[in-house]
Amino acid sequence: MTGPEVALFFHILGVFLLVGASSISHLAGARLRRAETVAEARTWLGVLKLVDPLFPGAIIVIFGAGAYMVSDVAFFDWDQAWVSVALGTLIAAGALGGGFLSRGLRGVMAEAESAEEGPMPASLRRAVLNPVLFAAENVLDLWIIAIMYMMVDKPNLAGALAAVLIATAVGAASYVPASKRLEGVEGVEG
Ligand code: HEM
Repeated sequence: MTGPEVALFFHILGVFLLVGASSISHLAGARLRRAETVAEARTWLGVLKLVDPLFPGAIIVIFGAGAYMVSDVAFFDWDQAWVSVALGTLIAAGALGGGFLSRGLRGVMAEAESAEEGPMPASLRRAVLNPVLFAAENVLDLWIIAIMYMMVDKPNLAGALAAVLIATAVGAASYVPASKRLEGVEGVEG
């Protein structure tokens, strides 16, 4: 295998790790939102805590291998829109995931730690059902899908930006049904 082929292998391995971690994260998130007791919520939060460090690891592998390919292969270049928009979106995904979502997760964990054993208190239910965290997670995953489209189709700037904008809009729109889940939870304005 040539250097670029080895890099493509690790690049796609990084994508497998990213998609795998994201899938487990979505499953645990869905179970967490249905938790009836504090103990159940802590179990699924424990799974999310285990998965969280896989995201920066996957992003480093994806970027490292991708950068090598762009630098080494003659017909790839940093000023090609599919490369630069993908890179920008990956950096934004890292900030949204590593910054906002991880901090949000830590907040929910602190709420769960301080809760008394037994049925879910309203404060923890509100934290778990936070529609902003839900929408942010969906935006992040749809960005990854938009990048995958860029990798295969290699669109021009308009096409690459359109993919990111559509992904952002669809992900952000998931805030609406998620905020409806909060209705009826104690302490939430009707
Ligand atoms: C989450 C982010 C990313 C995902 C999911 C992703 C996914 C993929 C996939 C599935 C392929 C195989 C496509 C094919 O063979 O047709 C690929 C190829 C490639 N990726 Fe990425 N990629 C990501 C980020 C990046 C970044 C940031 C760069 C540049 C720094 C990059 C550079 C490349 C290159 C140069 C190829 C080879 C393209 C080819 O052989 O046609 N990727 N990527």
